[in-house]
Amino acid sequence: MEAVTQQIVVKESGARMWGGRFDGKISQLMEKFGDSIAFDQRLYSEDLEGSGAYAKSITRIGLLTRKECRNILDGLDRIAEEWSNKTFVLKPGDEDIHTANERRLTELIGPAAKKLHTGRSRNDQVATDLRMWLKKAIIQNKAHLFEFLDVIVERAEKESDVLLPGYTHLQRAQPVRWSHWLLSYGWKIKRDIERLSELFVRADQLPLGSGALAGNPFAVDRDFLAKELDFSSVSPNSMDAVNDRDFVLEYLSWASITAIHFSQLAEDLILYSSEEFDFVEISDAFSTGSSLMPQKKNPDSLELIRSKTGRIFGHYAALMTSMKGLPSTYNRDLQEDKEALFDVYDTLTLSLPIASGVLSSLKIHRTKMEGALTEDMLSTDLAYYLVRKGVPFRKAHTIVGACVLMAKTKRVSLSKLKLSDLKSLSPLFDHDVESVWNYQNSVEQYSSTGGTSSKSVQTQIDQLNKWIIMHR
Ligand code: ARG
Repeated sequence: MEAVTQQIVVKESGARMWGGRFDGKISQLMEKFGDSIAFDQRLYSEDLEGSGAYAKSITRIGLLTRKECRNILDGLDRIAEEWSNKTFVLKPGDEDIHTANERRLTELIGPAAKKLHTGRSRNDQVATDLRMWLKKAIIQNKAHLFEFLDVIVERAEKESDVLLPGYTHLQRAQPVRWSHWLLSYGWKIKRDIERLSELFVRADQLPLGSGALAGNPFAVDRDFLAKELDFSSVSPNSMDAVNDRDFVLEYLSWASITAIHFSQLAEDLILYSSEEFDFVEISDAFSTGSSLMPQKKNPDSLELIRSKTGRIFGHYAALMTSMKGLPSTYNRDLQEDKEALFDVYDTLTLSLPIASGVLSSLKIHRTKMEGALTEDMLSTDLAYYLVRKGVPFRKAHTIVGACVLMAKTKRVSLSKLKLSDLKSLSPLFDHDVESVWNYQNSVEQYSSTGGTSSKSVQTQIDQLNKWIIMHR
C-alpha cells in the first residue's frame, strides 16, 4: 500500500500504444497533461495481478496457448520484481501504469504479450485495479480504527470513576463520567468501521470483462476472473462498470465523516489541554514548542488532525464535482479519482495512528476535572429532587430557578442556602436535600441505557468489547 517513489525518466515524445490511427505527434504539453503514470504506478501490483488473471481467462477460451500464458505469467512476475526493487525504468510513451506494464512485458517476452489485451480495455482494467487497491486500503483503515477503539475502551474501563463537567454550547451543563466522554467517541468509531464494511461489499465487485463499454466479445468467464482476483461478484452492466466510481465517492464520504469525528475529538482535547481547562496533558511525544515563547507546549498533533479534515472534504467535493456532469461510460475525467483517493488514504494512514498515540499517552488531571464541577451544575438534580416528591417538572424548574436567583442575591452557593430559605420557595424541601450536593450521586441517577451512571458506562464497555471481538 506504500506510495512508490516515482521512477525517474528522461521523457521525450514516445510512441503511444494507441498511436496507429495518428499521423501527427502528440504535443509534449499534452503528454504531460494527460499522463497519469506519476501517480497510478502505485497500482502496479494490482495491475499485474489483473493481467495474470486475464491471461489465464483468455487461455481457457483458446486465445492464448498454455505456453504463451506461462510466458506472460513469468514476465508479469519479473515486472513485479522490477517494481518492488525499484529497477523498473519508465520509457517515453508510458502514459499510465497499464501501458507501462504492457510495454515492458512486450520487451521481456515478445509477441505473446501483444495478445494479452484481447477483449480488454484500460477502462475495465483501471476500474478493476482501483477496486482491488481500495479493498486493501479499507482493511488497513479498519485496523487503525480498531486500534483507536481499543485505546478508548481500555481507558474508559480504567478511569470510569473520574468525573468532569459535561458541556452543551460549551457551557458547563451537568457532571458526567470521563469514561462517558471517551465512549461517546467510541460509538462514532464503531459506526465508522461499520460504514467501511458496508462500502467494502460494494467495492468488491469485478468490472473486468466489461471491455471499453460494451462487454467482452469472446465469452470470457467473468466468474473465473472474479474468483482469481478475489472479488465476490461481477458487475452486471458493462456501461455502468466502466463509469462507476461510487466506491471512490463512498470512500471519500466515509473519510469525511470519520475525519469529522477525529476533528471534534481533537477540538475537545485542545480545549481541555489549555491552561484555562487544564483537564489533560498531551504527552511530549505529540506536542511541539514555540520558536519564540520558551514556555509554550502546543497541541500541534491535534491541530493537524483537525485541519486534515478540510483537505479530505476538499478531495470529496472535487471528485463529486468532476463526476456530476459526465456522460455515460468512461471519460478521461475519471482519471482524477486516483490522486484524491490516494491522498485521502495517506492522510488517514498517518493521522489515525497519531490519534491513537495522543489518546493512549494522554495524562488526565483528575483533580482539575473534578474541581471544575460546580453546584449550579446540580440545579437540574435539585429540580428532579422536587419531581420525586410529586412536583410537575415545569413547576420544579421554576422553583429551582428561584433558588438559583436567591443564592445569587445572597452571594452563597446553592448548597449553602438554608433549609428555611428553600422551604420559603417550596414546602417540599427537607433535610434529605443534602444528598443532592454530591456529584457521584448525581451521575449515578443516569442509569437508563446510554446514561452516565457507572452501570450504564460498564454496559457500554461490555457491548463495545463484545462487538470488537465479533467484528475485528
Ligand atoms: N489513466 C487512465 C485513468 O486513470 C486509464 C484509463 C484510460 N482509458 C482511456 N480510454 N484513455 O483513468
